[in-house]
Amino acid sequence: MSKVTVSRKAHFNAAHRLYRKDWSNEQNEEVFGKCNNPSFHGHNYDLIVSVTGSINVDTGYVIDIKILKEIIKEEVEDAFDHKNLNLQVEEFKNLNPTAENISVVIYNKIKPRLETHLELEITLFETPRNFVTYSGN
Ligand code: NI
Repeated sequence: MSKVTVSRKAHFNAAHRLYRKDWSNEQNEEVFGKCNNPSFHGHNYDLIVSVTGSINVDTGYVIDIKILKEIIKEEVEDAFDHKNLNLQVEEFKNLNPTAENISVVIYNKIKPRLETHLELEITLFETPRNFVTYSGN
């Protein structure tokens, strides 16, 4: 059976601050630099959600892209867009909102919404040049 990957792009703007409460200011400054700005700063995040699976013989689809679009809207855009990730998004109350951690959170929100035989990969761009990829390993 042919396995095909279906991808959908999405976008959200969000603010964050990278720091650890249990570290000194100096230590946070040294590790996180500008991203430790106590007044927060924003990013224009670009997201690619990729779903891999065999083609359904009845529909010809791996996943109906309308359904994937709706899942991304509910789990990511509605939850993160124009939010302060540290202060307004439950998952980051005690988790540093790095691109790495955001990609894992997005994966964990979307994966349970997919049929179990489908594989998921998250690619998250924090800037046009900096991006991370997570596929559940
Ligand atoms: Ni940042």
